[in-house]
Amino acid sequence: MNMQENINNKTAPIGLFDSGVGGTTIWKEVNALMPNENTLFIADNKNAPYGEKTKAEIIALCDANTRLLLAKGAKIIVVACNTGTTNAIQYLRETYKEVPFIGIEPAIKPASLQSVTKKIGVLATRSTLASDLFAKNSEHLKQEEQVEIIEQVGEGLVELIETGRMNTPEMTELLRHHLLPMVAQGIDYLVLGCTHYPYLLPQIQQLIPPHIKVIDSGYAVAKQTRHILEEYNLLNDTDTPAQHFWYANGKAEVLQQFAPDINNLQISVL
Ligand code: DGL
Repeated sequence: MNMQENINNKTAPIGLFDSGVGGTTIWKEVNALMPNENTLFIADNKNAPYGEKTKAEIIALCDANTRLLLAKGAKIIVVACNTGTTNAIQYLRETYKEVPFIGIEPAIKPASLQSVTKKIGVLATRSTLASDLFAKNSEHLKQEEQVEIIEQVGEGLVELIETGRMNTPEMTELLRHHLLPMVAQGIDYLVLGCTHYPYLLPQIQQLIPPHIKVIDSGYAVAKQTRHILEEYNLLNDTDTPAQHFWYANGKAEVLQQFAPDINNLQISVL
């Protein structure tokens, strides 16, 4: 099937990718909102973490993931990775004009609008925080909303999750180190700007005071995906049960642990 055929085919799958299990937080939102859509998900875990890579490296990896998803027949691509989106979405949209792309960026706008203290914290990867797209958006908000945006690199978090050490004292220590300085500065919103981090929510909530609201962009991305599919007249309107294929190009054990227990999902190693 060539690309033109994919994007005109309502039953073709939604393609998603990330550097690893983080993308499954987005997959879960997409699947909850559109349970009859077929999906393909690539966890490029051989190359994780993206957050410590250069823009050129991130573009090359996102390009490879996109090609693979298109070759497997995706009708739309969800870049389920803040690092990928903030560094590569412009390149992807310019390079693959025939297919719609949905990206994910740290939810600093809703946090800024709703913050009462006008101090928000954003936890994201180094490459997300260093990107031009993030800089442009945060500068704009600082001026428009008179908000202080406290940035924190989530150093080490993705590595621990990807190596099966999510619930360890090491993780608690890292989170404490990353979060408590932002708390001390008076934030009332904490933005989780990496798709891996929603899995850390229970641990984060034990470390920060309950009045601090924690938000991410997962649901917004799923809604935007549905909206664009509607606009392109690409929503799957059949009632055939959906099929889901997840692929890892490194080991699949950790990915397996984050998979829902359903029988229409197949996980394989590329
Ligand atoms: N989950 C990704 C993100 O949203 C990338 C994490 C990484 O590989 O560093 O930024």
